[in-house]
Amino acid sequence: MQRHELLRALHKATAARNYLEIGVNDGRSLALSKVPSIGIDPAFKVNVDLRGDIQLARTTSDEFFAGKRPLGHLESARNPLKNIRKGRPLFSHYVGGTALDLAFIDGMHLFEYALRDFMNVEKHSRWGSVIVLDDMLPRDVDEAARDRHTQFWAGDVFKVIPVLRKYRPDLLVVPVDTEPTGVVVVFGADPDSDVLKKHYDEIHAEWVVPDPQKVPENILGRADAISPEALLGASFWPELVRARNLRLPRARGFGRLRSKIEAVLPTSAAV
Ligand SMILES: C[S@@+](CC[C@H](N)C(=O)[O-])C[C@H]1O[C@@H](n2cnc3c(N)ncnc32)[C@H](O)[C@@H]1O
Repeated sequence: MQRHELLRALHKATAARNYLEIGVNDGRSLALSKVPSIGIDPAFKVNVDLRGDIQLARTTSDEFFAGKRPLGHLESARNPLKNIRKGRPLFSHYVGGTALDLAFIDGMHLFEYALRDFMNVEKHSRWGSVIVLDDMLPRDVDEAARDRHTQFWAGDVFKVIPVLRKYRPDLLVVPVDTEPTGVVVVFGADPDSDVLKKHYDEIHAEWVVPDPQKVPENILGRADAISPEALLGASFWPELVRARNLRLPRARGFGRLRSKIEAVLPTSAAV
């Protein structure tokens, strides 16, 4: 399955009420969203029809998130009638504000950028949010180079997988075997976690290294990646959507859901 097919299906499975994308390029992935959305890219050149309520931000993701109210475009208003008109959740303003339902990180393909993108997106997420990172399963060392020299370029963003598994065992990090260069779906976001921020310099010093990159076998061989069909066909999605929409606290919802997701994963992917 191509990554865009998975993304289209994730919009449906997550019943996403909003969407944020880092890395828009020609707009083909953003065009899959029919809900209020934000697309961020310093050099987008959209050549497809984008329908609906979309903010296109011509800036880098770091600059975008450094702004005052990055999610301003998606925020629910005080007045529920206004929210009905704009397709926003009715009462979000009164129960803790707006968070992302679905995010797609596909901007600069360098590890430290993708890690910062994840950190920024997580700050605006809740445990029921679904965060997708593209190009996480390069097929060879050339595709994983920091210095691009191949047609398909994944870069060294694959390192986000071991880093999240080491520093954030509270997250569920699920590699998915999509074409061409694999994605990762992250469940259980915690906007209050400051672990990555605290360790950012140490992580940068350890993981940002010159080419050629050492790509682990489980990434190259996709040994612990789930098939997109198996992930999409799993039975936990309605429970995730219900818990998210009801704003069930993480302590009451995520443990149970995590077990259900882990039950469908290849054994080594359940981390
Ligand atoms: C692989 S393309 C995105 C493809 C698109 N998501 C899709 O699936 O059709 C990567 C995009 O990231 C953008 N980009 C590069 N650096 C960026 C940054 N720092 N912040 C946001 N976007 C960035 C590039 O301009 C490029 O258009």
